[in-house]
Amino acid sequence: MDMRMFVSGRIVKKWQFVQLFATCFIVSLMIFLGLNDNQIVNHMKSYSYRYLINSYEFVNDSLTLRHGPGGTASYQYLMNHEEKCHAQDVLLLLFVKSAPENYGRRSAIRKTWGNEKYVWSQLNANIKTLFALGTPSNPLKREELQRALDWEDQMYSDIIQQDFVDSFYNLTLKLLLQFSWANTFCPHAKFLMTADDDIFIHMPNLIAYLQSLEQVGVQDFWVGRVHRGAPPVRDRSSKYYVSYDMYQWPAYPDYTAGAAYVVSGDVAAKVQKASQTLNSSLYIDDVFMGLCANKVGLVPQHHVFFSGEGKTPYHPCIYDKMMTSHGHVRDLQDLWEDATDARVKTIAKGFFGRIYCRLVKIVLLCRVTYVDTYPCRAAFA
Ligand SMILES: *[C@@H]1O[C@H](CO)[C@@H](O)[C@H](O)[C@H]1NC(C)=O
Ligand SMILES: *[C@@H]1O[C@H](CO)[C@@H](O)[C@H](O)[C@H]1NC(C)=O
Ligand SMILES: *[C@@H]1O[C@H](CO)[C@@H](O)[C@H](O)[C@H]1NC(C)=O
Repeated sequence: MDMRMFVSGRIVKKWQFVQLFATCFIVSLMIFLGLNDNQIVNHMKSYSYRYLINSYEFVNDSLTLRHGPGGTASYQYLMNHEEKCHAQDVLLLLFVKSAPENYGRRSAIRKTWGNEKYVWSQLNANIKTLFALGTPSNPLKREELQRALDWEDQMYSDIIQQDFVDSFYNLTLKLLLQFSWANTFCPHAKFLMTADDDIFIHMPNLIAYLQSLEQVGVQDFWVGRVHRGAPPVRDRSSKYYVSYDMYQWPAYPDYTAGAAYVVSGDVAAKVQKASQTLNSSLYIDDVFMGLCANKVGLVPQHHVFFSGEGKTPYHPCIYDKMMTSHGHVRDLQDLWEDATDARVKTIAKGFFGRIYCRLVKIVLLCRVTYVDTYPCRAAFA
C-alpha cells in the first residue's frame, strides 16, 4: 500500500515535472525570440498556471483590503422597486445590465424573454425582471435621458438605478448593485441571473432546467460559459487591458462569461460578502465575480448551450436545447418567435428526429473554422 502510493506519487510528480519543464522551455524560447507579451505566450503562461499551480490564495491575499469593507455599497438608489419581489415563490430573479440610452433593447426584452407574464402563463413559473442601470454617461444628454428613464420606469416599474456613471469601466459597480439588491430585497429567490441587454435567452428551456435543479435542491451553484485559465489582456490598446498593478498573475481564476450566467440564491450573499473584502478596482465584472467566488470556494460549471461571444446558428434543432446566445438586437423578436415555436419541440422527437437533429448539430457546430458559439460537444449532449 505504502509502496504503491509512493510510486504513484512519484509518477504524478514526474509527469508534472515534464509538463512544467516543457512549458518553461517553450516560454523561454519565445522570450528569447522576442515574443514576450505576445498572445500565445500569455496563453501558454496562463494555461500552465491554471493546470499546474491553480492556486489563487495569494491573489486573494493581495487583493484583500486591509482596512475593513470597501466603500462600494454606498451608491444611492435613484430608482428602486423594493416591493418587486414580495411574492414568496420567486424561481428566478433576472437582472439585465442595460445602459440608459438602450430603450429599444429594453423594449424588445420586455416583449420577449424578459416577459414575466409570458413565463407565468406559459411556463408556470414566477420570474422577476429588473434592468440594472447607472446614470447617463454623456453629460450633455444627462437630463434629457434621465427624464426619459423616469417616464419609462413609470410605465413599466422595472428599472433599478444607482448614482454611479453607467460606463464599461464601472461594470463592477453594477455587479455589486445586482448582488446587493438581491440580498436586500429578494433573498428568497431560488436563482439569480445576470445578462447583457444584447443577449437572447431561451426562457422555456432555461425555466425547465431551473425547475429540475430546484427539485434536486442545489446550493453553491454557478453555471454559464466557463473561461478556464484566461490570461489578463496586457495590450494597452484593448478595452480589456489590465495593468500589472491591478492584477499581477498570469491567469484569472475560473469564471463565467458575463454575458449571461445563473447562480443559486445562496450564492448572492456569499459573493456580496466576499466582494466587500476585495479591492473592486478590477472593472471587468465577470472576472471580479470570479475572484469573489474563488474567495468563498465556489467553482463555476460549464453548460455547453450557454454561448460565448458568438450567435447561435439559426436552426430548430439548436433551439431545442439552447439556453443563451449573444449579439441579438435587431433579430431578437424574430428569433424569439422561431425559437419558442411549439414545432421546435416536435422536430427532435422520435428515432428519426433524433438522428436528424444530431446530424444537423454536428454540421452546424463541429466546424473546422472556429466560431465562438456552442462547442462541438454540444452536438452530442
Ligand atoms: C482567501 O483569504 C481569506 C482570508 O483573507 C481566507 O479565509 C480564505 O480561505 C481564502 N480563500 C482561498 C480560496 O484561498
Ligand atoms: C464610475 O462612477 C463614478 C461615480 O459616479 C464616477 O465618479 C467615475 O468617473 C465612473 N468611472 C468611469 C470610468 O466612468
Ligand atoms: C486597489 O487597487 C488599485 C490598483 O489597481 C490601487 O491603486 C488602489 O489603491 C487599491 N485600493 C485599495 C483601497 O486598496
